[in-house]
Amino acid sequence: MRHYLLLDRATGERRAWVAAPPGMTVYEACERAGQPLPTTCRGSTICGLCHVDVLEGGASLPPVQADEAELLARQAPDRPRARLGCRITLPEGLERLVLGVS
Ligand code: FES
Repeated sequence: MRHYLLLDRATGERRAWVAAPPGMTVYEACERAGQPLPTTCRGSTICGLCHVDVLEGGASLPPVQADEAELLARQAPDRPRARLGCRITLPEGLERLVLGVS
C-alpha cells in the first residue's frame, strides 16, 4: 500500500493523502478515500469528467490510450498534464504520485 498526494488544482494546497495498492485505479482510490472524482459513468471511461492533473510521477504511469485522449480533448483541452482517473491503474513500484484535483 502506497500513499499518494492530492492537491487542490486551484490553490495548490494539500487536500488529502490517498492510500492505494498497485492495480487499483486513481478513480477507485479517490472514492475509497472519501475524495471522489466527478463522474456520471462511475469509472467506465465514458463521461471524461474524472480528469486529474498529474503533477509528479507521470513518467511511471501507463500511457494514454486513444479513447482516453479523445475524452481529454473534449473535457480538458487546455490541460496538457490531464489524465482520466479511471484510466490510471497504479503500477507496481510507483513511489510518488501527486495529482491536482478540483
Ligand atoms: S469516471 Fe467517467 S470517464 Fe472516468
